[in-house]
Amino acid sequence: MAIDMKGKNLVSINDLSREEVTQILEIAEIIKLRHYSHEEQPLLKGKVLGMIFQKPSLRTRVSFEIGMIQLGGQAIYLGPGDIKLGEREATKDIARVLSRYVSGIMARTFSHEIILELAKHSSVPVINGLSNLLHPCQVLGDLLTIKEKKGRLSNLKLVYIGDGGNNVAHSLLFGSVKVGMDIVLAVPPGYEPKEEIVNLANEDAKKIGSRIEIIQDPKEAIDGADIIYTDVWTSMGFEEESEIRKDVFKPYQINQDLVTKAKDDVIILHCLPAHRGEEITDEVIDGPHSVVIDQAENRLHVQKGILALLL
Ligand code: CP
Ligand code: NVA
Repeated sequence: MAIDMKGKNLVSINDLSREEVTQILEIAEIIKLRHYSHEEQPLLKGKVLGMIFQKPSLRTRVSFEIGMIQLGGQAIYLGPGDIKLGEREATKDIARVLSRYVSGIMARTFSHEIILELAKHSSVPVINGLSNLLHPCQVLGDLLTIKEKKGRLSNLKLVYIGDGGNNVAHSLLFGSVKVGMDIVLAVPPGYEPKEEIVNLANEDAKKIGSRIEIIQDPKEAIDGADIIYTDVWTSMGFEEESEIRKDVFKPYQINQDLVTKAKDDVIILHCLPAHRGEEITDEVIDGPHSVVIDQAENRLHVQKGILALLL
């Protein structure tokens, strides 16, 4: 039976049950099929999504906006200069006023606390479009991509190499264990995921029977990998650390030499934007194992599923 998710927020994958994650992916698959067979239904006719951005975006902004349009609704973009989130008025007032106008709020912020504050005071669903802590919509799209490419989500080994303390790594921890996937992170010392995130993910892992491992050696991690995942070494908001990070992360580059140590049918994911020549080489990101463009496309389909369920 369908689970009613109307009115819910999407702040973290950890707040969702395994069944809710499965439902989002199943609805996304149906919506994607309908889209390609020109049978799209106007599930969000008359609805408007307010999109708050404190940071730049290609995929998130465009896929949410197009997603709303394709489902018969509309979206409005509120960029950093428009509402001056965190500067012009209290976040709680923004949440209370905006929810009188729109049917849902999607927000991309620096501090994760702002997402929590918006969710607390909004009377319409709040969707986290990336905070410094988490990037749940990205990882739900990634799960859809993995399911399509591998035909399943459980009994797979996902190896994440790079910055273990960023939003994508944190959401991958939550997302993979939630669906029964093993996750190994190879990260330099000092760039491990936050302890509270690992502890929460471990609770799920124990229940579901998946495994989390955090090590330092990328070569050791990659042995038997079904999926290799990487992200930029310096996330938005941490630019002042970028020179130090370039040195620290050098041994963590996804290059051809490393890829040959994974399974023959390994797929390579990157949330994009990529810094080619840093965390991933041109040869690998443009090579036969890379699925990054399909992955980016799936942001659209999965978010349409999320919007249809929550709004
Ligand atoms: N992957 C992702 O969220 O891309 P944007 O920053 O372009 O939205
Ligand atoms: N970790 C990256 C993801 C970008 C989509 C960042 O926050 O910049």
